[in-house]
Amino acid sequence: MSTISKPIILAIESSCDDTSAAVIYNGKVLSNYISSQAIHSAYGGVVPELASRDHQKAIVYVVEHALEQANVTKHDLNAIAVTRGPGLLGALLVGVSFAKALAQALDIPLIDVNHMQAHVLAHFIESPAPSFPFLCMTVSGGHTQLVLVRDYLKMEVIGQTIDDAAGEAFDKTAKLLGLPYPGGPMIDRLASEGNSDRFSFAKTNVGALDFSFSGLKTSILYFLQKELKKDERFIENNKADLAASIQKAILDMLFEKLGKAMKQESITQVAIAGGVAANKGLRKRLSEISEKNDWQCYIPQFEHCTDNAAMIAMVAHHKFLNNEFTGLDISPDPRMKL
Ligand code: KG4
Ligand code: ZN
Repeated sequence: MSTISKPIILAIESSCDDTSAAVIYNGKVLSNYISSQAIHSAYGGVVPELASRDHQKAIVYVVEHALEQANVTKHDLNAIAVTRGPGLLGALLVGVSFAKALAQALDIPLIDVNHMQAHVLAHFIESPAPSFPFLCMTVSGGHTQLVLVRDYLKMEVIGQTIDDAAGEAFDKTAKLLGLPYPGGPMIDRLASEGNSDRFSFAKTNVGALDFSFSGLKTSILYFLQKELKKDERFIENNKADLAASIQKAILDMLFEKLGKAMKQESITQVAIAGGVAANKGLRKRLSEISEKNDWQCYIPQFEHCTDNAAMIAMVAHHKFLNNEFTGLDISPDPRMKL
């Protein structure tokens, strides 16, 4: 049982293509250093082998930077935290192995963190933070979830995608428009100059609070193939309108289920998390819908939407206070559930 009430924790994140380390003291983030891997854009998506190799190259200096920025040394630390999953096995392995070795060398406890729980707790890095219970829509490159958050470490997935994630829908449709990876931010930028009502695409209806995005991608693919037969410059000539219409289709699906979930759970506080929460159209629409429905909405800063270790540190802080530590024999869990 730990008697430390104001822990200093180093947190490490390496689940996908960002190597990040953060230091948290008594629940306040002192540093959050992120090294993003640029190498994947040449391949149109994250290449797992290259990701783990880049994490290996970056992890030592990323951790050193985080400690330096926080003005602490490794001997000040009370625990090491690390993302255990979900994510890419080889990428997770780099962070988990490093964290285990450091915890052992410093003889301090290890805390394993669920990456999806961390996306939700990113809301507590800033203030004002939501109060419990609230609904969080987590939309990233790997996940799309509606999470009912009852407490820091008590949350339940009440809806999720049955196929592609919302971020994947952005990235894959962007690829059809010839945009580089990751396409989400590019669609976002182009959409702000386009007419979102110009084109409409078939949507797949799935039950209850779940989502399905793979049908949208296919519908866009067929539509483009048909139009390109008539005009080979169709995409170039209509890029902004296409981006705006694609973005609208994705947002329509997200907000339909979000609205349903809010009603079903009789909740008035709503939050968004994950990389897609950086989308300007989504942020604007959430503000507008919240105002209309009298919901209180929480939209995190851009840098806390995409992968970062500050959010891992926030989960670790609460696990530390609950004495939830793990053994040094853990392995990464690429399919870790919430
Ligand atoms: O949470 P994240 O950084 O990594 C995962 O855990 O997946 O999310 C990355 C995803 C990518 O699919 C990327 O295209 C998307 O977030 N994304 C965006 C925007 N910024 C990042 N999608 C739409 N609009 C954006 N502005
Ligand atoms: Zn993520």
